[in-house]
Amino acid sequence: MSNASQPGKPPQEDPPSFDDIPIAVRETVVESKPKARSLTWLLWLGGLITIALVSGGSWFAYQASQVRTGVTASPSPSPSPIASVSPSPTDDRVLNHFAYPEAPQSELEAVSADDGIKMRSVAAKSFREMVAAASAEGVILNPLSAFRSISEQQQVYFNVKAERAQTLEQRALVSAPPGYSEHHTGYAIDIGDGNVPATNLSPDFENTPAFKWLNENATKFNFEMSFPRGNKQGVTYEPWHWRFVGDKASLELFYKAREFQQQASPTPSP
Ligand code: DAL
Ligand code: ZN
Repeated sequence: MSNASQPGKPPQEDPPSFDDIPIAVRETVVESKPKARSLTWLLWLGGLITIALVSGGSWFAYQASQVRTGVTASPSPSPSPIASVSPSPTDDRVLNHFAYPEAPQSELEAVSADDGIKMRSVAAKSFREMVAAASAEGVILNPLSAFRSISEQQQVYFNVKAERAQTLEQRALVSAPPGYSEHHTGYAIDIGDGNVPATNLSPDFENTPAFKWLNENATKFNFEMSFPRGNKQGVTYEPWHWRFVGDKASLELFYKAREFQQQASPTPSP
């Protein structure tokens, strides 16, 4: 296009033309600037979308792996503290002795040669095994008394009390009132030393080989001393009186709601 004027006509100004703008300015100011802005925004947008996609994908992959391994994104609530068992002492006690049911005759078995001394079958079996084990080591565990009915305990408690002119409390230190003896259960037994009968039902029993052997071995047969020295139940020390605690029934009978007893350890043998 030319700016030369024609004859008779006023010179006309050419319409502005992009050609009038120096090339350098054209490219940078008129045409190139909008394109650059669009490109910049597109780059930003693309970058943001890419970051979002990568982050999102990683998060989903992480969550999937946690589910596979059994771990959850938000930790499960801590387990509730184990309920503390605070057994309440039973109130069915008389003169420091607990109430016990009488074992049915049908569940009793003899543990003595004359069949006069009986225990519950499971305890009788374990006692016989214990006697055999002790015998193999030259120790004679002699059964003196095991199951006693409530009426038999009536005699033991009240008749002897009268003979000895004892108060109820004095008698209860060494004998349970009827209805409150471990002997009713068929799980308890008084044991003597067959080689030292003079110590039967005496604190001196603790000096016998039988007592030493029981202290070292009775737990293998699920027997324990009921009234060790200093027991918190307040019953006089009876080294000869042992009870079977080798099944659910005997365990519950002697221990349910009774942890408060926490009896002292048996006296070690000399
Ligand atoms: N000698 C124990 C305490 C009883 O009579 O059962
Ligand atoms: Zn006894």
